[in-house]
Amino acid sequence: MTDHDLLLGKLCSQYGLRPREVWGDDLDRALAKISRRLGLSDGETANRAFDDPVLQRELAGCLTVSESFFHRHPEHFNLIVEHIEGRLSGLHPGDALTVWSAGCCRGEEPFSAAIALRDQFGAGAEKVRIVASDVDAEAISAAAQGLFNGWSLRGLSARVAERYFTPVSAGRWQVCAEVRAMVSFSQMAALEHMCVLASNSVDVVLFRNVAIYLEPPALEQVYEGFARVLRSDGLLLVGPSDPRPPKPLFASRGHASGCAYWKRASPLRQGASSEPRVTRPRPPGAPPATARPTRPTCAQALTLADRGRIEDALAMATRIVADSPTDKAAYFARGKIWLSATRNDKAVEDLRRALFIGPDDRVVRYWYAHALLLAGRPLRSLSQIRDLSTRLRAVAEYEVLEDGQTTAGELQRAASLLGESIV
Ligand SMILES: C[S@@+](CC[C@H](N)C(=O)[O-])C[C@H]1O[C@@H](n2cnc3c(N)ncnc32)[C@H](O)[C@@H]1O
Repeated sequence: MTDHDLLLGKLCSQYGLRPREVWGDDLDRALAKISRRLGLSDGETANRAFDDPVLQRELAGCLTVSESFFHRHPEHFNLIVEHIEGRLSGLHPGDALTVWSAGCCRGEEPFSAAIALRDQFGAGAEKVRIVASDVDAEAISAAAQGLFNGWSLRGLSARVAERYFTPVSAGRWQVCAEVRAMVSFSQMAALEHMCVLASNSVDVVLFRNVAIYLEPPALEQVYEGFARVLRSDGLLLVGPSDPRPPKPLFASRGHASGCAYWKRASPLRQGASSEPRVTRPRPPGAPPATARPTRPTCAQALTLADRGRIEDALAMATRIVADSPTDKAAYFARGKIWLSATRNDKAVEDLRRALFIGPDDRVVRYWYAHALLLAGRPLRSLSQIRDLSTRLRAVAEYEVLEDGQTTAGELQRAASLLGESIV
């Protein structure tokens, strides 16, 4: 086993991360980037990282980059408002309520909670402090600025977007100061953050779409920690496809989403039926389930771009385009990667091709309009937005569009925002 494998193993065990095949390469890149900054060789940085918790956290953050958007799983924010409403009324002067967004990505989740609370309680929402943490340093520093593109805002109604966001440049919005002031961000893994939170001090925990990164033993520890820091009857929200929290500690609220849990007043005794529903750990030495070599996919290319590996992402997407020159998804993916590289003209070219292949794809049309705007062609962008709006008005708001995720209503809102940033 090389030093490199040992370091990766250390990071995974330190943060309870479930190893992924791509992480070996990701660690190389992260070490190279940090070494340049520190003026060290990669080997020296790796050696230092064995004993330096700050470096370890930075490296772990480079392995877990991901995506979020405002108002993801919108019903959760109604539940938060309901839960906080019940508690605000009994609050003693000077006391505060706490919402914790664990694995907050670039801030979409905690800001969504802040907006929902502000919208409902006005200045009364200032009695709620929102603490948000993520192991990824870049995500946290982006979150602190509160800057987002229209795609992140696609889950918001036009009223909310207008009320709480200010356009700062073409296709970019900043969440307003009053909402920013409600949220404090820290770069910490969930297991670290819970160590600095007092027992029975948190009213709501959001732990959505993060559990996938964790090994089962770490996940059990995380849930135990949530049960400690949550107040009696505290609310825990997880994502629809996350493993369910352990029954001895949490009771389902019976909410339609299946994602909402109460902390039990006293833990149930462990029994066969109350075992946590987490998957079994991989036996030591067994290869990861994903070890099969596969052809590169658009999703992999986009993930590379998310991780800041733009050149690799472009090379991979270009290979996919060369293999499948009539594949709309390949041009769509490469177009989005060109946008990440601020090569907006190249993005326009690829997205135009994607749209030529699939003229009815409304999500592609949105991105084409977005690229046109960034490439300095506002009038052409506007005409695409109008075309898109007409198509979206012709279908039900809840119709799921070509990417299998975005609804017509969400895209309509994103398109309106884009249009408003032009006129
Ligand atoms: C898919 S995003 C989910 C963001 C948000 N919770 C949501 O549902 O939209 C997953 C986030 O979890 C973060 N993450 C992964 N492992 C973590 C850990 N152990 N502690 C804190 N954050 C973690 C990643 O860096 C990433 O930003």
